[in-house]
Amino acid sequence: MIKDKRTTLPIARIVEETENVRTFTFRMDVKAAPGQFIMLTDFKGGEKPFSISDNMLEDGKNGYLSVSIKRIGDFTRRLFDMKAGDIVSIRGPYGTPFFIPGKPDEKTPEVVSKIKPADFRPVLCGGGFGLPPLYLLAKRLLEAGVPAKNIKAVGAGRSEADLLFEQQFTGLGIPYTGAAESLDDVSAAASLEGGCGRICGTAAEALTEIATETNFVYASGPDLMMKSLIPQMPQDTEYQFLFERYMKCAIGICGSCATDPGGIRICKEGPALWRHQVEQLEDFGVYRRTASGAIELFENRLAGRDRA
Ligand SMILES: Cc1cc2nc3c(=O)[nH]c(=O)nc-3n(C[C@H](O)[C@H](O)[C@H](O)COP(=O)(O)OP(=O)(O)OC[C@H]3O[C@@H](n4cnc5c(N)ncnc54)[C@H](O)[C@@H]3O)c2cc1C
Ligand code: FES
Repeated sequence: MIKDKRTTLPIARIVEETENVRTFTFRMDVKAAPGQFIMLTDFKGGEKPFSISDNMLEDGKNGYLSVSIKRIGDFTRRLFDMKAGDIVSIRGPYGTPFFIPGKPDEKTPEVVSKIKPADFRPVLCGGGFGLPPLYLLAKRLLEAGVPAKNIKAVGAGRSEADLLFEQQFTGLGIPYTGAAESLDDVSAAASLEGGCGRICGTAAEALTEIATETNFVYASGPDLMMKSLIPQMPQDTEYQFLFERYMKCAIGICGSCATDPGGIRICKEGPALWRHQVEQLEDFGVYRRTASGAIELFENRLAGRDRA
């Protein structure tokens, strides 16, 4: 697939993850990097960005790409009315992906660029539909030689029923901690031995429990959730956060996804931003811009609860 060319194709498979989250899979030969997103339209109005949650390119043919979508407004409600075989159109993948150890580029901070995969001990922390893109990241980390026992996944949600992708992470041999505001069985929260289990609380509280030996944090989800993680990280921990801002062109032209004050474009320099870039953002956790460019303040809610 050519990046800026639209591909119109049937939905190959739809899997219900929770009542309000479904994974849509498409048969397409495209190699996507973790953290990248596609722009998708159903031709009935608008085009929206969705992070890639899984991807495989099998010898240049029979590849697939998946996105995990939460039903929120009109657009996503229409997608939830679709069935396998219905036609949508996709362009991408777009954006700067997450860092993979052993594969530094010119933007990788020096302190991280020399880390060997065997010494990399990351926590992957996702709120709501922020977690699925971290599944593709986990697969790529394993392929790069990071041992599964070095990786920890945290999924945050409002209730236990909102926790996503537990089976997918544990299927890779990666311990998964579910952080939920309410738990069906509070006694299940008793132990996080080995960084595995349930916590009745926020993503930040889960991170405090399990991040003792970590040397890197990847996070994806609402701004307020990601911001709440920073004080809980061991000192000097490097991190990358995956950002969402209003997108139109997705190729760096229109400026609708630009952050303040420096104009970092989330579709181009992001969605995965390094710590030194995040530290420059004045809008992080404070506001984002709507389709018209107007400022929309984030509500003061924590840990993926607003969109989980
Ligand atoms: C880089 C990126 C990756 C994303 N990945 C996912 C994902 O993997 N799964 C998922 O469910 N959602 C994802 N989203 C959000 C998704 O694009 C919106 O939730 C979706 O567009 C909501 O559309 P709606 O019409 O159903 O709801 P609406 O009620 O129209 O919108 C709900 C919210 O989505 C925001 N939104 C609407 N249109 C856009 C747009 N074009 N760009 C950015 N934000 C928009 C609105 O500001 C509002 O806060 C991602 C957004 C970005 C920017
Ligand atoms: S969406 Fe147009 S510049 Fe990012």
